[in-house]
Amino acid sequence: MKTLAVYSIKGGVGKTTTAANLAWAAAQAGRRTLLVDLDPQGASSFYFRVRPIKGAKAQRILSGGDALTDCIRASDHDGLDLLPAHLSFRNFDLLLDDMKRSRTRLRKALRAVKDEYDLVVLDAPPSITLLSENLFDASDLILVPVIPSPLSERTWRQLMDFFKDHKLPENQLRPFFSMAQSRSRLHKDTMVRLRATGRFLHAVVPLSADIERMAERREPVLVFAPNRTAARACRALCREVLAELEPT
Ligand SMILES: Nc1ncnc2c1ncn2[C@@H]1O[C@H](COP(=O)(O)OP(=O)(O)OP(=O)(O)O)[C@@H](O)[C@H]1O
Ligand SMILES: [Mg+2]
Repeated sequence: MKTLAVYSIKGGVGKTTTAANLAWAAAQAGRRTLLVDLDPQGASSFYFRVRPIKGAKAQRILSGGDALTDCIRASDHDGLDLLPAHLSFRNFDLLLDDMKRSRTRLRKALRAVKDEYDLVVLDAPPSITLLSENLFDASDLILVPVIPSPLSERTWRQLMDFFKDHKLPENQLRPFFSMAQSRSRLHKDTMVRLRATGRFLHAVVPLSADIERMAERREPVLVFAPNRTAARACRALCREVLAELEPT
């Protein structure tokens, strides 16, 4: 089982959109996939029309074992299950703070599903907290959406600095351009400059009305507009990510 996080310190950069599209594309590509919605906003659960079971509390997720697996629900799509968000997930940091070995709890909890799934996709809330550190520890790869604009670039640099300062493996971080506008001079210049660092994935997810419609359709753009530019970009991103996670 491989674990992929979609993460940024910054809000509204396309984490949930990416997590939903990638999870669906990976399931389509034959990977038994679990999408874990760690964000109490519950947006990725909303995209897949999945509601939490009663009592799916944060504590149960961190306990792992049957307590965690009982919270998993099937989606309407073959090969894709969800662990939907619950409002109590706002308490993850409080709970973790009270626990021993508080930075490794999520990885240990996810052992409960290691034989059931090929891929676990973690959709995380923005900010950098103890939950984020658990996510870093639990993930084989951390996909970071970066809008090619100054504030988003700044949070990408903050994240790299955090990894350096805490001696975390920087090569776990894979940034890609999200909501890119090909007609914007600022976006184009920023992409050229950041690409020169050699770290960014090739796939670029454009700013797209089709992607925005996901919230109305409540399904991945790959389902309702599979031949459009945005869907092609999401498929390319999925291919690149799977190639990194599963080197031959
Ligand atoms: N490529 C895109 N083109 C157009 N709109 C997009 C794109 N990606 C995301 N959006 C829209 O931007 C908003 C934020 O996207 P999303 O929820 O994926 O971001 P997020 O990083 O998960 O946000 P949060 O930090 O609140 O969890 C949503 O309304 C979504 O529909
Ligand atoms: Mg989100």
